[in-house]
Amino acid sequence: MQTQTHYQRIGGDAVLKQLARRFYEIMDELPETYALRKIHPDDLSGSADKLYAFLSGWLGGPQLFIEKHGHPMLRRRHLPFRVGSDERDQWLLCA
Ligand code: HEM
Repeated sequence: MQTQTHYQRIGGDAVLKQLARRFYEIMDELPETYALRKIHPDDLSGSADKLYAFLSGWLGGPQLFIEKHGHPMLRRRHLPFRVGSDERDQWLLCA
C-alpha cells in the first residue's frame, strides 16, 4: 500500500490554490482581522500565491515556494511584523 502525502490527501494543487485565495478573502472581509489586513499589501493576490506555494511544499507536494523564492525561512520573513497573540488569533480566524 502506498502512503499518500498530505498534499494528495487534501486534494492537490487546485484545492490549495483555492484554500490560499479564500484565506486572504476572509482576511479582507472580517472586521475582526482588520488590524492584520492593514499590514498586508493592498493587493492580496501576491500573498495568496506565496501561501499556496509554501503550503504545496510543506504538505509534501512540489516545492513551489523554494523554486520561486528560496528557503521559506518563515521566522525571518516575519521579523518585520509584530506577531503577538492578537496577530496569531487573527491569522487563525482566516484559516
Ligand atoms: C503558521 C502561520 C503562518 C504561516 C504558515 C505564514 C506564511 C506566510 C508566507 C509563506 C508568507 C510569504 C513570505 C514572503 O515571501 O515574504 C507570509 C507573509 C506574511 N505574513 Fe505570514 N504566515 C503565518 C502567520 C502569520 C501571522 C500570525 C502574521 C501576523 C502578523 C503574518 C503576517 C504576514 C505578513 C504581513 C506577510 C507579508 C505579506 C506579503 O508580503 O504579501 N503571518 N506568511
